[in-house]
Amino acid sequence: MASVHVLNGVNLGALGTRRPEVYGTLTLDDIERDLREAFPGVEFRFGQTDFEGEMVGFVREAAASAGIVVNPGAWTHYSYALHDALEAVDVPKVEVHLSNVHGREEWRRRSVVSPAVDAVVAGMGAYGYRAAVGYVLGARGGA
Ligand code: DQA
Repeated sequence: MASVHVLNGVNLGALGTRRPEVYGTLTLDDIERDLREAFPGVEFRFGQTDFEGEMVGFVREAAASAGIVVNPGAWTHYSYALHDALEAVDVPKVEVHLSNVHGREEWRRRSVVSPAVDAVVAGMGAYGYRAAVGYVLGARGGA
């Protein structure tokens, strides 16, 4: 089975210590462990970067994957490059936000990435990644 790519963008490597009251106390390693436990039959690829071009590369590498779960961090709100990279890849794609971006600052309410994905999850904390992976698998008739 093709792998599910879970991609985290700018500043998400600091999860666990970065504004825990907003983003929770779990680290990316914790989230990875949780997904591997929740979906034992799934092959995962995990990637995190603070460099936009590297993230574009990660998206291209997922072109033949079972799907992409992506939390772009602040790139969500202004990266047309990430939008275009996602738009060019024809696999199930879900945008995830740990926090409820619609209940925070005005500028977080706009995602330039959303038009290039199938679904958006926001405000469910780390569980949002599970929901997104479940969707990706279902979109391929898997789960
Ligand atoms: C975030 C929300 C973004 O607005 C923010 O810049 C992040 C994290 C989230 O997961 O809630 O870095 O994507």
